[in-house]
Amino acid sequence: MRLVVFGAGYVGLVTGTGLSDLGHEVLLYDIDPDRIAKLNDGRVPIYEPGLGDLIHRNQRGGRLHFATEIPASFADADAYFIAVGTPPGPDGAADLSAVMAVADTIAKVATRKAVVVVKSTVPVGTCDAVQARLAGAKVSLEVVSNPEFLKEGDAVSDFFKPDRVVVGARSDEARQMLRELYAPLQLSGERLVMTDPRSSELIKYASNTMLAIRISFMNELSRLCHATGADIHAVRLGVGTDSRIGKKFLYAGPGYGGSCFPKDVQALAALGRENGVQLKVAEAAHQANEDQAVFLAQLVDKALEGVMGKQITLWGLAFKPETDDVRESPAVKLASALIERGATVIGHDPEAGPNFTKVFGSKVAVKERDYDALDGSHALILLTEWRSYRAPNFAEIKRRLKASADGMPPVLVDARNIWRPSEVQRAGLRYQGIGVSLHRAADRPSQVLV
Ligand SMILES: NC(=O)c1ccc[n+]([C@@H]2O[C@H](COP(=O)([O-])OP(=O)(O)OC[C@H]3O[C@@H](n4cnc5c(N)ncnc54)[C@H](O)[C@@H]3O)[C@@H](O)[C@H]2O)c1
Repeated sequence: MRLVVFGAGYVGLVTGTGLSDLGHEVLLYDIDPDRIAKLNDGRVPIYEPGLGDLIHRNQRGGRLHFATEIPASFADADAYFIAVGTPPGPDGAADLSAVMAVADTIAKVATRKAVVVVKSTVPVGTCDAVQARLAGAKVSLEVVSNPEFLKEGDAVSDFFKPDRVVVGARSDEARQMLRELYAPLQLSGERLVMTDPRSSELIKYASNTMLAIRISFMNELSRLCHATGADIHAVRLGVGTDSRIGKKFLYAGPGYGGSCFPKDVQALAALGRENGVQLKVAEAAHQANEDQAVFLAQLVDKALEGVMGKQITLWGLAFKPETDDVRESPAVKLASALIERGATVIGHDPEAGPNFTKVFGSKVAVKERDYDALDGSHALILLTEWRSYRAPNFAEIKRRLKASADGMPPVLVDARNIWRPSEVQRAGLRYQGIGVSLHRAADRPSQVLV
């Protein structure tokens, strides 16, 4: 098939490249000329494991093209994919201007019957609105909802081995087209969910909000652990071994971030309000996430007996490991809070340093090497559980960090609970986890660790 994908970001780039690897002829279109120039130069504008090789292979194979214009050769495409951003507006509702701009472009360029596949995360009713927007097209275009569930950091493998693919279509013809498109992925039985566009749109928001609710609830429990002396690791294990609940997404931490959970939870709550249905659980998940960021800043402040005038190192600036994405990252929130309270912040991340610098400029010095970011700091805060941070040399960390004026050892705030408190303490450092009872955690057996 001949396919056009609008938006060469995290979703569009992976989807378009994946589809070309399945043998389709794909044009990736983006309004950002720098992004397209980089791609045509063989450079990959985002960090996503495995993506570079896949792009280069399909570029060499002549199936994958990048452009800021739709050439006449793609005006007869079989399908147009919309994968542009849907950021939150001031009230939390999704801003659909980019989606609608793409719809207008498709209406202008399409010269044969085709499907328009909405991969962007959009509120219920958007596919119908896009369908109405396409009314002026010269040819028949059917809009299909096909929300994306890829996880940054695992996006390539998620494309080829998705848990499920959801398709919301109104006609059998469109359903059949999407079935054929995804046939090479060999999705058995329930892994291909066929439904109507409105249910499909809601599935995406419901999935992300469900996961966000789990994280927020565990974060609230971690705060209760601090207040009561219970240990969040034990609570997680005890709760997660119930097969009805399961073990995933039960980790307390600095709060969820990224370009999806914060925005989608708020967009779902806004959709509820617009339709006269207050989604109290979704609203509470969002508020609990905001509270966790405040709690973390207070925890650091307390551990250092005030951060004013202190230097603090952050390890992990991306919102999760294996990505360079810092959108809504806990590190962005914490760095802002610490700077506001008068601290100097130094950062390190294996991939996200340049994106973090785009946000903070010279306000945060980002170092190339993890240990170099420690020199002279009073505290190290671990915010992203990159593999390279999992087994650090605590003696070296101690050597580089600085004790407080009254001789208190430097503190490590482990916001992902990945280090053993006893090991940190043996190196002569103080340990602070999230909801971790120091007394019990020191004796924790290794299988209790993440
Ligand atoms: N990032 C994720 O992990 C993820 C996962 C699932 C779903 N989603 C959803 O997918 C959508 C895209 O997310 P993303 O993270 O890939 O966004 P992104 O910001 O990385 O990429 C969006 C791209 O669209 C381009 N663009 C904007 N307007 C355009 C236009 N009119 N025509 C063509 N290109 C245009 C931008 O230049 C940018 O390159 C969002 O709705 C998001 O919620 C994202």
